[in-house]
Amino acid sequence: MKNLVIAIDGYSSCGKSTTAKAVAAALHYAYLDTGAMYRGVTLFLLENNIAFDDMPRIEQVLHDEIHLSFKRNRRTGRNELCLNEVIREDDIRQMRVSNSVSEVSVIAQVRHAMVAQQQRLGRKRGVVMDGRDIGTTVFPDAEVKIFMTADVEVRARRRQDELTAAGQDVPLPDIIENLRKRDHIDSTRAESPLRRAADAVLLDTTHITITEQVDFVLDKVSSALFAAYAHKING
Ligand code: DC
Repeated sequence: MKNLVIAIDGYSSCGKSTTAKAVAAALHYAYLDTGAMYRGVTLFLLENNIAFDDMPRIEQVLHDEIHLSFKRNRRTGRNELCLNEVIREDDIRQMRVSNSVSEVSVIAQVRHAMVAQQQRLGRKRGVVMDGRDIGTTVFPDAEVKIFMTADVEVRARRRQDELTAAGQDVPLPDIIENLRKRDHIDSTRAESPLRRAADAVLLDTTHITITEQVDFVLDKVSSALFAAYAHKING
């Protein structure tokens, strides 16, 4: 079976990572959460009091002091983000990181470093990546491109449920404001903004279940595999 790249982009909290993880598991593909990488950089800058406009320092830490990797947690089966070899999965999901991550993601030097690492991690293909610019910038040649969206209130309620499960009590209006702000910054930045690639399929998750989301993507994967096979046998 041909190893594909499956790019899942879209707005914050549409269910991209839940869908991407399930699709990766069904296909025995790797899963890469690119948002976790931007969150890891943000956590490092916050913890080291590095201003988001201090470009020489940011370039230096990206080069010499920030090492991002993923480690599989055997108990949960989750791929967890490590910052300098230490698992920081819970810390990168805190609201203080969520409130700053879009500002950090705007920085061209940060994006160049993350995109280069994501391209290296996916070079063997057979990977599902979720993010904002996978289908447009990281893997413009991805065989399957999905662009996810959903009503902001529905997204905020889902996000609140996740935060509650993780022991964080955050009021709904704060979450809505955070999502709106992130969507705006992510879609209007100069460097690889969040936008639907011309060949991406739109998936609105407002009224559908996770199973339906996953089936939708797997259906697109079947079509892509069939197209690749037909291309091969027809020369
Ligand atoms: O997917 P997430 O909500 O964990 O992503 C956090 C932030 O990272 C998001 O607001 C924008 C940024 N991001 C990005 O700019 N490009 C990506 N490929 C993934 C995430």
